[in-house]
Amino acid sequence: MSDDLESRIQAAIANPSNVGELADADAVGTVGSPDCGDMLRMWVKFKEENGRKVIDKATFQTFGCQTAIAVASMATDLIRGKTAAEALAMSGEELSAPLGPLPPMKIHCAQLVEGALKDALNPQPASAPAPAAGPTLFDQLTAPKTVKITLQP
Ligand code: FES
Repeated sequence: MSDDLESRIQAAIANPSNVGELADADAVGTVGSPDCGDMLRMWVKFKEENGRKVIDKATFQTFGCQTAIAVASMATDLIRGKTAAEALAMSGEELSAPLGPLPPMKIHCAQLVEGALKDALNPQPASAPAPAAGPTLFDQLTAPKTVKITLQP
């Protein structure tokens, strides 16, 4: 990674924006990266503004790398004031634009943020349950796992 990119990432994660759950969110999206196993959850809250339903606030939690934290921090600021359709149209590259071009091995970090945003904003089927207030991403990742062992004769 270039020194410039590294310093921009360090600056972004030194004081990241919009970290944590958003208790009264209208939408929640969670995605895991098949490339590295990291996870990111995003909460989105809307408001009415000049007859448009726009994003009032978005927050995130992640078990991801520094790049994912930096992109999520910037993306949650970038999508403020956009409609769901406008935010959905943004690519990982656009969401990470304030950092500058990412090296190939870090592109999936921005795609993790894009995926969580799309998961939150894509319409759910009418029969789908409303987003639950819990458990948190941390709860899910730290919950005891049940392992079934079958002994062969
Ligand atoms: Fe996994 Fe960046 S290395 S999100």
